[in-house]
Amino acid sequence: MIPHRFLAACRRQPTDATPVWFMRQAGRYMPEYRAIRERYGFLDMVKTPELAAEITMQPLCAFPVDAAIIFADILPLLEGIGLQLTYEQGEGPVIHNPLRSPADIAALHDADPRETVAYTIQAIRLVKRDLEGRAPLIGFSGAPFTLAAYAIEGGSSRDHRRTKALMCTEPQAWRDLMERLTSQVSAYLIAQIEAGADAVQLFDSWAGALAPGDYADYVLPFVQKCIINVRAGCGVVPPPPIIYFGVDMSGMLGLLRQTDADVIGLDWRIYLDDGWAQVGPGVAVQGNLDPHTLLAPWPEVRRRAADILDRAAGRPGHIFNLGHGIVPETPVDTVRRLAEFVHEYSAE
Ligand code: CP3
Repeated sequence: MIPHRFLAACRRQPTDATPVWFMRQAGRYMPEYRAIRERYGFLDMVKTPELAAEITMQPLCAFPVDAAIIFADILPLLEGIGLQLTYEQGEGPVIHNPLRSPADIAALHDADPRETVAYTIQAIRLVKRDLEGRAPLIGFSGAPFTLAAYAIEGGSSRDHRRTKALMCTEPQAWRDLMERLTSQVSAYLIAQIEAGADAVQLFDSWAGALAPGDYADYVLPFVQKCIINVRAGCGVVPPPPIIYFGVDMSGMLGLLRQTDADVIGLDWRIYLDDGWAQVGPGVAVQGNLDPHTLLAPWPEVRRRAADILDRAAGRPGHIFNLGHGIVPETPVDTVRRLAEFVHEYSAE
């Protein structure tokens, strides 16, 4: 069997064309998504496996993307260990009992993600059935730092001051929290792989808020541990590719290489070839078009996408993506043209 080009590229094997998928490819920019969203709350969509499976398939039906990503969110995992989560209209996620002290951290529960997020595991099984091998399925989890930051701040934050304060003033409580999240994340990703995920992505969206030295001391060891745990515990040989993605981490790419992830996601704040040189030739890269570029007229989108592909220069191990998720205002037609263009231009 010919491996799918997405999985081949994760392993730095040559492909007939550059694979492409988009973070948040199932979302509000799609009319099919909005039609479901009108009838259900976001968490209800995530927690109903049949709905999550249907939404996961929407971009696969609409565009020639090379991978599906399970429709879910990074935060429901936190409900299982005792945090109360809602999504407020216009505000995004809110945690109603945020962690503010070592005592709050000590009071967190133990939980088995197979039970607490069973709906996402079941959605993965349904999507695998629907895909019939046409495209690989990406599972994902938040990485320990980004989950900790949400749990401590109680929602999105501009400066993450509470998270940084706790990290620096209560280093033992910080380690306890990161250990607990590391075991949650590892077990969650292993369960996703057992259910059929062909690759997994760790989203560390907020880790770029840290100084490199703090990332190295307080965060990187736990990312490494997640990756070691997943590879050792998933029961698949060779283990599925692991993608590590952060935003605003261009100043720490040497450290990201130390995660030992198979693929590093780059945001748009660095030229793709410069970023690739810094993570090293032994790692695949994913990225890195600015998602707001997709609001431009097509010739502008095309020019910027071609520049990224020129910088990748046909070297095996590039997966085309955006530097962060698609924004809701994005024209559907631009997404379709971009997926087609990546294939056509890279195959020439
Ligand atoms: O990429 C995909 O298509 C898979 C689905 C996916 C969602 N969230 C769906 C979603 C993935 C991979 C995520 C990850 C996620 N969730 C991250 C890490 C990546 C990133 O974007 O930085 C984070 C930080 C979250 C937390 C989260 N979920 C926020 C901050 C928000 C509100 C912002 C927003 O876009 O509204 C969400 C809600 C969310 N997650 C939506 C979707 C499609 C929008 C929900 C809606 O329909 O109202």
